[in-house]
Order: sequence, then structure tokens, then C-alpha cells
Amino acid sequence: MALDTIILRIIHIFSGVFWVGFAIFNIGFLQPAVKATGAEGLKVMQYLSGKTRLMPSIYIAATLTMLSGLIMYWPMAGSGSFMKTGYGMVLTIGSTSGIIAWLIAIFVIRGIFTGMGTIGKEIALQEGPPSPDQMANMQALSARLGKVGHLALVFMVIALLAMSIARYTPNF
Ligand code: HEM
Repeated sequence: MALDTIILRIIHIFSGVFWVGFAIFNIGFLQPAVKATGAEGLKVMQYLSGKTRLMPSIYIAATLTMLSGLIMYWPMAGSGSFMKTGYGMVLTIGSTSGIIAWLIAIFVIRGIFTGMGTIGKEIALQEGPPSPDQMANMQALSARLGKVGHLALVFMVIALLAMSIARYTPNF
């Protein structure tokens, strides 16, 4: 295997693990905990989205996964017979799902986290606890994050499943 392919695979799999791992933790554990703990949970979300490098790290990992995947996929898909093989078909299903998950992460989920960060900053600057309006907006954003996050996760899991089995798929 050529060195550039090895490097691309390492980047692809490391960043994919980081991105999908966080998505599973976020949807499966963090968001339910935020929901269950009310104002305290919202505080954690404000801190995470406004004061740490978590979100940029996730967007960078998601984009690295997508780009390294695309760079590996493009030359393979170029050969006409590729799509007639089981490997080609399954890898294409996985790649398409991965790209859809990336689009949702960058164009929808990023906007939700930006909104959360803005409300978080407002709350941090004002005196006293969050207003009922701010609480309601934060909870609405959190609920939207849960829904859209689930959708993105479905596409990520399809991508992960397809990529894990692609090379072992027989030709139809
Ligand atoms: C959620 C996103 C993704 C995850 C978790 C993921 C995961 C993986 C994993 C674990 C492998 C190793 C499979 C193996 O060696 O048999 C792999 C390989 C690969 N992935 Fe992805 N991937 C994702 C998105 C993408 C996207 C968006 C593309 C293309 C646009 C892509 C293209 C590829 C290609 C071409 C390979 C190489 C397969 C090979 O060398 O046999 N992946 N991916």
C-alpha cells in the first residue's frame, strides 16, 4: 500500500472515530443528562459550546473524515467496473451517507451550537440567573439538537457499517 494511502487511511479512521464517537456520546448520554438536570445542565452546554474548543474540533474531524474519504474514493470510483462490484456499491452507500451526515453537521448542527453559544454569552454578561425566555430558547435549541443529531447519527452509523463491511462484500 502506498504511503499516501496509509496516511489518508490513518487520518480518515482517526477523525471518523473522534466524530462518530462524540456523536454517540452526545446523543446517547450528554443530551439526556442536560435535559434531566435543567439549569445546571444548560450551564454545562453553555460552557462546552462557548468556552471550549470542542465544537471546532468536531467540525474539523468531520471535515477531515469527509475530505480524506473523498480523496480515497475518487480514483476508485473513476474506474467503470467499480460500481458493478459489491465493494464499490457498499462503499458508495457509505460515502453518500457520510457526506449527508457531514452536511447536517456543518450546515445545521453548527448553527444550533452557535445559537447556544450566543445565549450562553448573553447570560454570562448579565447579572442574575437566565430569564425564562433565555431558558426556553436554550431548551428549544437543545430539543432541536436532539432531533437533528439523531438524524445525523443514523447516517453516520450507515456510513460506519458500510465502510466496515465494504471490502468483504461479495459481487452480486
Ligand atoms: C461517518 C463517516 C465515516 C466513517 C465513520 C468512515 C469509516 C471508515 C472506516 C472504518 C474505513 C476502513 C474500512 C476498511 O479498511 O475496510 C473507511 C474506509 C474508507 N472510507 Fe470511510 N468513513 C466515513 C465517511 C466516508 C466518506 C464521506 C467517504 C467518501 C466520500 C469515505 C470513503 C472511504 C474510502 C474510499 C475508504 C477506503 C476503503 C478501503 O481502503 O478499502 N468514507 N471509512
